[in-house]
Amino acid sequence: MQASYDQQLTKITLSPPDQLNPPPVDLKKVIETRTSVRNYSSHPLTLFELTYLLWSTQGVKKNLSGKATFRTVPSAGARHAVETYILINRVSSLAPGIYRYLALEHSLLEISDDQDCSDKITKGGLEQEMIRNSAATFIWVAIPYRMTWRYQERGYRYLFLDAGHVCQNLYLSALQLNCGVCAIAAFDDDKLNYYLNLDGKSQFVIYMASVGKLS
Ligand SMILES: Cc1cc2nc3c(=O)[nH]c(=O)nc-3n(C[C@H](O)[C@H](O)[C@H](O)COP(=O)(O)O)c2cc1C
Repeated sequence: MQASYDQQLTKITLSPPDQLNPPPVDLKKVIETRTSVRNYSSHPLTLFELTYLLWSTQGVKKNLSGKATFRTVPSAGARHAVETYILINRVSSLAPGIYRYLALEHSLLEISDDQDCSDKITKGGLEQEMIRNSAATFIWVAIPYRMTWRYQERGYRYLFLDAGHVCQNLYLSALQLNCGVCAIAAFDDDKLNYYLNLDGKSQFVIYMASVGKLS
């Protein structure tokens, strides 16, 4: 399950999960110290760090012959109805812009290098400054049909629950990299959907989270 994409767009292959070896941490300490962080240092994230965060939030561990995937996060019926878009402001060796994580291919797709993308996403996020100041802001997009063909109306409930699991993994894995995260659900749906070319029905922004190095 991965939304189709324009094959002409630039694709960046990411380091494979078995090469991602972040420093070991005490999970209890991480859970205890987790808090929402809205101010970040000006240091960029490395591409390795971003890759680790993408893998932690959507990484595919097992692909059952195209029928279902098992990932680093749980999902109702293993439907995984969320796609990850990401605003890049400050990640070494990546140009600022909007990207999409292709979970099945473990690669990044460059969607837009619009110079104003950070301002536009911040505007869509009701001018919450941590978006503009983040090293990157994750933008999770729900594709309800992946849930509703199986669970009908109840599938909508599962979309929101799934998104919560994804964001929690970001909070925890970011701390491992000395990064802070702030979940964001106060945003203008229409503005963000329009900017990301989503129709707001078959695909819509469900949740976001800013991330950056701790100061
Ligand atoms: C569903 C959800 C939506 C949130 N939306 C925002 C938001 O739009 N802006 C913001 O600054 N914080 C947002 N937060 C962060 C909460 O304000 C924060 O988790 C809460 O104040 C508790 O603080 P803590 O995370 O440090 O424990 C959101 C958190 C959740 C779980």
